[in-house]
Amino acid sequence: MKLSTPTSTPFILRTENLERHQALSPLNIDLVRKEIPVTSRRAYFDNAGTGPPSINVLNAIHEYLTDWRDYGENWEEWLPMIIESRRLFGKMIGASLEEVASVPNVSSALTALASSVKYKPNGNIVISELNFPTNIYLWHLQKKHGRTNEVRLLRKDQNGTVPLEEWEKAIDDNTSIVSVDYVSWTNGCREKIREIAKIAHEHNAFVIADSFHGLGVFPINAKQDGVDALACGMYKWMQGPHGAAYLYTRSDRLSELDPNYIGWHGVEDSVVRRMSKQEDLFGKPFNIDIAEPALDATRFEGGSWGVVSIVGAKAALEYALKQDQQERYHRILKVTDHLIDGLKKKGRKILTPLQSERRSGIVVFEDEDPQATFNKLKSLNITVASRVKAIRASPHYYNTEEEIDKLLAAL
Ligand SMILES: Cc1ncc(COP(=O)(O)O)c(C=O)c1O
Repeated sequence: MKLSTPTSTPFILRTENLERHQALSPLNIDLVRKEIPVTSRRAYFDNAGTGPPSINVLNAIHEYLTDWRDYGENWEEWLPMIIESRRLFGKMIGASLEEVASVPNVSSALTALASSVKYKPNGNIVISELNFPTNIYLWHLQKKHGRTNEVRLLRKDQNGTVPLEEWEKAIDDNTSIVSVDYVSWTNGCREKIREIAKIAHEHNAFVIADSFHGLGVFPINAKQDGVDALACGMYKWMQGPHGAAYLYTRSDRLSELDPNYIGWHGVEDSVVRRMSKQEDLFGKPFNIDIAEPALDATRFEGGSWGVVSIVGAKAALEYALKQDQQERYHRILKVTDHLIDGLKKKGRKILTPLQSERRSGIVVFEDEDPQATFNKLKSLNITVASRVKAIRASPHYYNTEEEIDKLLAAL
C-alpha cells in the first residue's frame, strides 16, 4: 500500500470525529468482509492466535507512519491519541478513563499486578490450569519469593471445566488473589467469572481476570462481572496489532495496589499529566527526590509506549465499538454451532465443553496428526491452529457457514 502525503487535519482528530458520528447499526456481513482483507484470501479460523486487521487499522497505522516520516517526534499528537485509546478501551468494558492503563502486553499487565497487590501473610493464591501459562508461572514465582505460602492450581475435570464447587472449596479467608481467564486458550471453556469473583470477595481476595479470549467475542462489563483488575491484549479477537494491551483496575481498589517498580510515565507528575494540565511537557525539572505513583491506573505505565501499536489498537477499538457486541457473539455461536454439528457428524472428538454457558469462539477437536492437518488445510487456504494432538479452530463473527463447510469438507 502506498503511503499518503500529509494532510492539513491531524490524523488523530480525524479518527476521533468518525467515532462520534457513528451510531451502532446491524452487522452487514458482506460489508464487514470487504473491510477485513483476509476474508478474500483464506478461510481464517485462528482468531485465538492472531486476529486479522480491518482496513481501518491498516489505514491508521499507515497514517501514523506518514506522520512519523514527515514530523519525526510528534508527542503533541501522540499523547492525546494514547489517552483516547485508553478511553475507548474503558468504553469497551464499562470502565472510566482513569481506571485504564496502556501496557505493551498481557504478561506485563499481570506482572504489574503481581508486584503491586497486597499479599496476606501465610496466604494462598487460587488459579486454574485452564489459564494461559503466564497467569500460572507468575504465581509460582511469588511462592518462590515468599510472597505466598501456597499456589492452589485447580485441575479441569473430564468435561474440560473447573466446576464452581472446586473454586468454592479452594478459596478461603487466606486467599490473597484469585486469577482466572475469561475463556481458556487451551480448550475454549468460558469461566463463570461473576460467580468466581463473588466467592473471592466473600473471602476478601483480589480478583484478576484475563479477558484476551473474551473481549471482542462477547460483551464484557468489568464492573458487573465484579473483577478488581482485568488485562486484555488487542491482537486476537480485537483484530489490533501486537504490542498494545490494556490494564483495568477498579478505582476503589487502586489505592491498595502499591507498585514495586515504576517508570517515568507511571508517576503523578508525568509528561501526560503535564499535557492534560496544559503545562509545558519538559518546562520544569522532574522531582527525583521521591517516586510518587500516579493516582490513577497510569501508575502501571512504565516507559515509552509502542505508539505504532497503540495507533492500530485505537483504530481496532473504534471499529469494534461501531458494532453490537451481543450481535457479534450470536454470529460466533451460530458459526461455531455449525462447526460442532459437522465435527460430530464426522465422529470427531470435541475437547471444548459444549454447555451453552461455557461456549466461546474456540472449538478444539482431536486430531491424530495436527501438524499434517494444519499444513494440508493451509495449502487449501484454510487457517487453523495446530495443538497437542488437536486442532484449534477459532472462527470470528465475520466468518460464514460456507467457510465452515469448506473446512469440514477438507477435514
Ligand atoms: C489468554 C491469554 N493470555 C495471555 C496471552 C499472552 O499475552 P501477551 O503475549 O500479550 O503477554 C495469551 C496468548 O496467547 C493468551 O491466550
